[in-house]
Amino acid sequence: MKNFIAPVFVALSLLQPISSYSVYDLSNVQWTLSDPGNNVSVPGSLPSQAHLDLFKAGVIPDPYLGLGDFTLRWVLYSNWTWSGKLPSSCYSDGGQNWLVFNGLDTFSSISLCGKHVAATNNQFRQYYFDVSDILSSCNSSSPELKINFGSAVKIANEIAAQPGQETWPYPVEQVFEFPNRWFVRKEQSDFGWDWGPAFVPAGPWQPAYVASLKSNDVYVRNTLVDIYRKGQLPLVPPDQSQPWVVNVSLDYLGDLPNGTKLKYKLTDLSNKTIASGSLSNVTSSKGVIGGTTIVEDGAVDLWWPVGMGDQTLYYLQVDIVGTSNSASVTKRVGFRTIVSNQFPITDEQLAEGIAPGANWHFEINGMTFYAKGSNWIPPDAFWPRVTPARIQQLFDSVVLGNQNMLRVWASGAYSPDFMYDLADEYGILLWSEFEFGDALYPVDEAFLANVADEVYYQVRRINHHPSLCYWAGGNELENLELSEIAQYAPDQLARYQGEYEKLFLDTIVPILFGNSHSISYSPSSTSNGWLSLDFNKSQPITERYNNKTNGSIYGETDFYNYDSSQSFNLSAYPVGRFSNEFGFHSMPSLQSWQDVLEPSDWHFNSSTVVLRNHHYPPGGPFTDNFANASKGMGEMTIAVERWYPAPDKTDSVANFSAWCHATQIFQADLYKSEIQFYRRGSGLPERQLGSLWWQLEDIWQAPTWAAVEYSGRWKVLQYIGKDIYQHVIIAPYYNVTTGDLEVYVTSDLWTPAKGSATFTWYDWSGKKLNVSTASSVDFTVGAINTTRVLHTNVNESLANFDMANAVLKMSVSATGSPPNSNASQTFTHENWFHASPLSSAKLVDPGLKYSWDSNGSSLTVEATKGVAAWTWIDYPHGAILAFDQNGFWLGKGEKKTVNVMKLWSDTTSGAWTKNVTVESLWDQTQS
Ligand SMILES: *[C@@H]1O[C@H](CO)[C@@H](O)[C@H](O)[C@H]1NC(C)=O
Ligand SMILES: *[C@@H]1O[C@H](CO)[C@@H](O)[C@H](O)[C@H]1NC(C)=O
Ligand SMILES: *[C@@H]1O[C@H](CO)[C@@H](O)[C@H](O)[C@H]1NC(C)=O
Ligand SMILES: *[C@@H]1O[C@H](CO)[C@@H](O)[C@H](O)[C@H]1NC(C)=O
Ligand SMILES: *[C@@H]1O[C@H](CO)[C@@H](O)[C@H](O)[C@H]1NC(C)=O
Ligand SMILES: *[C@@H]1O[C@H](CO)[C@@H](O)[C@H](O)[C@H]1NC(C)=O
Repeated sequence: MKNFIAPVFVALSLLQPISSYSVYDLSNVQWTLSDPGNNVSVPGSLPSQAHLDLFKAGVIPDPYLGLGDFTLRWVLYSNWTWSGKLPSSCYSDGGQNWLVFNGLDTFSSISLCGKHVAATNNQFRQYYFDVSDILSSCNSSSPELKINFGSAVKIANEIAAQPGQETWPYPVEQVFEFPNRWFVRKEQSDFGWDWGPAFVPAGPWQPAYVASLKSNDVYVRNTLVDIYRKGQLPLVPPDQSQPWVVNVSLDYLGDLPNGTKLKYKLTDLSNKTIASGSLSNVTSSKGVIGGTTIVEDGAVDLWWPVGMGDQTLYYLQVDIVGTSNSASVTKRVGFRTIVSNQFPITDEQLAEGIAPGANWHFEINGMTFYAKGSNWIPPDAFWPRVTPARIQQLFDSVVLGNQNMLRVWASGAYSPDFMYDLADEYGILLWSEFEFGDALYPVDEAFLANVADEVYYQVRRINHHPSLCYWAGGNELENLELSEIAQYAPDQLARYQGEYEKLFLDTIVPILFGNSHSISYSPSSTSNGWLSLDFNKSQPITERYNNKTNGSIYGETDFYNYDSSQSFNLSAYPVGRFSNEFGFHSMPSLQSWQDVLEPSDWHFNSSTVVLRNHHYPPGGPFTDNFANASKGMGEMTIAVERWYPAPDKTDSVANFSAWCHATQIFQADLYKSEIQFYRRGSGLPERQLGSLWWQLEDIWQAPTWAAVEYSGRWKVLQYIGKDIYQHVIIAPYYNVTTGDLEVYVTSDLWTPAKGSATFTWYDWSGKKLNVSTASSVDFTVGAINTTRVLHTNVNESLANFDMANAVLKMSVSATGSPPNSNASQTFTHENWFHASPLSSAKLVDPGLKYSWDSNGSSLTVEATKGVAAWTWIDYPHGAILAFDQNGFWLGKGEKKTVNVMKLWSDTTSGAWTKNVTVESLWDQTQS
């Protein structure tokens, strides 16, 4: 029998269409990761990075443990080779065989069957190589593919040392741990940042394939879909009555017959066909084919960000007619317009009381809205271990935190498709940036050509996502980098500004606007916006820079002040049209530290904690010693001691935990103060229309600006952000110099809201104080506007009271409609004000009590003896969840029911509920 069957098998395999179209996923290869220099050879994987495979093989511990950022440096100085054998079934003799890499990080040399294929030098490009000749002349039936990665740190230094290489005046190029990152098209924060480690990983970080094609087969390697209103131009609010233009362009490998047609089908998510037919105006050049169709306005529903309407999505399927392999692409798309409006303030706006200058805000589907959100950094130092589940957990936090926009910061990596897909579903607007930041960059021809390929690939890959709301060239280029040139080398400003424009305007803009009519662009976050636009040019933008008129307001603000004496001085905050960054760092919780520190390091200033604080980085340009590494620790300590009663617990672990928590209270208090200030600006001459704090999430466990810790645990800030990003808020505006206290109701609803505000003064024991300010005020607050509901001077109104023993509770209740809806809804918010700092307040034991309700998913918290400030429900290591409120205040006798809003993970089988603690600021100071 055996003998009989065998020939049949041979015959079958000979009959296999060995020249048929196939796409082989290189993750199926049995890879070996090796470095002979270090005598290491372990099983490898793809996609991956060296650190991850070494960790999996047990050669190194989890890089995040302890001081791994320093002790594992040998990994980043080494050369790593992935080698594996291709099965003969994955390629064919007659046709074209392509190696396609969606991402190689970063300097690689690729060989196949012992022959050099290519070298690469850009983490953000897709690379594709025709290896047909190498394969047809290869003697082996399982040719070996080798990808050798050099050390990006060493190569960056070599490039910098080349004769005639460009230099920049000190201190323009911001160094965190390793210098010369600006010569390298690799995630800039891999070289260290003030919130992250410097692992500088290497490896094939994105999927890779062998595409085997016979004649008239094509492999579509990238797809552009641009959906815009007919006549729309980037940066210009379009005519919302125009039909939609759907422009599709496919990058393919292989050859297409002349006269190839493109068919399309637009369906809704239940597969109902909305439109179908052939694309018009098909154009084809080597490797690119595209066409267009019109979709009538009424045929589709709009896509809206969360809280402003539905996230309606459609499938667009495009078939290339005439290929042997029936090449077809499906993209999920949405219909929306999103514009960054930077036009000059109009006469009509002036008449409304808006200060002259220029706008800087977003309009979705023609509607102005208030952008509420934060900044996104890489969620892990190693992208291959970032899963959709992790993004989902973070996006849950964004949406539950009442945010509608994330600024995906410019010096990480372009976000993966699955992240944009999730953002499309959650309705989170992703302000996206090209990966340049806190440095000026070379402009030699090779560098610009490399960037041009990167921009072309990424713009086309991402453009179809309705969540994409903006492109910026890079981070802090005009406000920081060019300002530093102006300060330290003013005579060279023209030269460096010219180079800046060569890269961020002349190189990027024609590619971006040549592919996308739908997305606005600015060369820098932060900037003063454009001065003029001329669409007769392929690069239409002229930047304003500092060509400003006194008394006029332009552009975005980016604001930090580590002198905590100024933290609550509202005069120190910037007045602008949009705030894209602001903040202060805080410690992660004890529970997060427990993930990576030995118990002996559970101290505020243990050397491991201090060395994980990279603000200011040990080894960076500002500092090169341990003492300076502790400067950022000092800033947090001083802030806590200045503004709050300092924790002083006898148990050293409890004290560490209380101190970590106290830094989070300060952080939350500061951000709240700034957000209230910026949001109030929506109704002031600055017409301030956005606040994005620095930063949403942590890349690792360390003192940083994050609101969500690496584990997903919410810091105090994330709860306070949720509270203060509600549609209608009541907030104090206090002048520390004069004692003037104003209270404002601010609303970001799209129609006016009506309601009343109430005010009650108490002492800390909860006794009502008979202060002669209004106790209730009726008001109407306009659409995206603010209105003053109280004005007093506390030096006068509290003259007969002890200011350190007086707190004001402010409540608002208003009726209005959510954005884009006619439904009537009641919006409530409360807030507390104290004229003297809590460090000198006469706090009393508020007598906090709590109990779980019978359903086990909510608990009731009560202050029985006095006013509880910053009430905090803590839960132990092992569970990750979010309550619907935390970090709140309670009046005496006041009860709050707190729900578990989301439980992401629980390794305690529910036992965590028995170990929650509820403490207020007063309890934190008790031994
Ligand atoms: C390491 O990699 C770099 C760049 O790929 C290469 O130039 C160098 O020769 C390699 N060194 C060793 C020892 O393999
Ligand atoms: C396809 O078009 C090109 C350019 O117009 C032409 O040179 C070529 O001969 C055509 N091929 C066939 C098979 O018609
Ligand atoms: C729509 O069609 C796709 C592919 O044909 C299928 O996978 C999906 O289940 C369908 N969806 C619905 C809602 O019918
Ligand atoms: C095709 O091109 C013509 C001429 O430029 C234009 O008038 C028409 O609107 C285009 N069709 C589509 C569907 O874009
Ligand atoms: C400054 O802006 C004005 C228009 O507001 C323009 O006329 C002038 O040329 C600009 N100056 C420079 C130096 O760009
Ligand atoms: C506080 O009042 C002083 C004096 O009138 C004024 O100069 C300052 O701008 C005010 N500060 C704020 C934040 O309003």
